[in-house]
Amino acid sequence: MEPGEILLSEEQIQKRVREMAYEIRRDFPDDLHLVAVLKGSFVFLSDLARNLDGRVSLDFMAVSSYGRGTTSGEVRLMKDLDAALDGRHVLIVEDIVDSGLTLARLQEILRARAPRTLRTACLLSKPARRRVPVPVDYVGFEIPDTFVVGYGLDYGDRYRNLRYIAAMRSCPGDL
Ligand code: IMP
Ligand code: MG
Repeated sequence: MEPGEILLSEEQIQKRVREMAYEIRRDFPDDLHLVAVLKGSFVFLSDLARNLDGRVSLDFMAVSSYGRGTTSGEVRLMKDLDAALDGRHVLIVEDIVDSGLTLARLQEILRARAPRTLRTACLLSKPARRRVPVPVDYVGFEIPDTFVVGYGLDYGDRYRNLRYIAAMRSCPGDL
């Protein structure tokens, strides 16, 4: 497998991230606490944060998902946040919502920590793949049911560094 067709160019992504930052700031003019989910969201977080004027703080967490084939949505916290969320305006920053299982569980975990508001921004969404309904307040792009890489998203931990988003395609030598 290797990156093939470019679905979203660097210019398209940068323009949309600026628009999202504007919308988010319009809705949350004061302190905003960004919670990024490692590793996939690191590029999106970096561009989004730099397009948000005013006061921003950020924190990181890492999760791993189990039971992909089921609707159990078992999510293990590999790295927890450093700071408490109570009373804060919290924005979850995610790379992509696929089945929705990871995000749904994450929202549940974070909501239990009593943030003043809890919203979610995702760069990409694959609506055709959704298995559980999950609220996403800011969506960058809806994409078809295809595996994509770049702009933080990986295939076997590679291709996160691409400045654009491409669909993976099989190549000679694949089984
Ligand atoms: P969900 O729980 O099925 O929504 O899974 C979401 C996670 O699966 C994302 O945070 C990504 O880490 C991974 N993922 C889903 N689709 C893709 C893709 O097309 N490319 C890279 N990672 C993906
Ligand atoms: Mg992820």
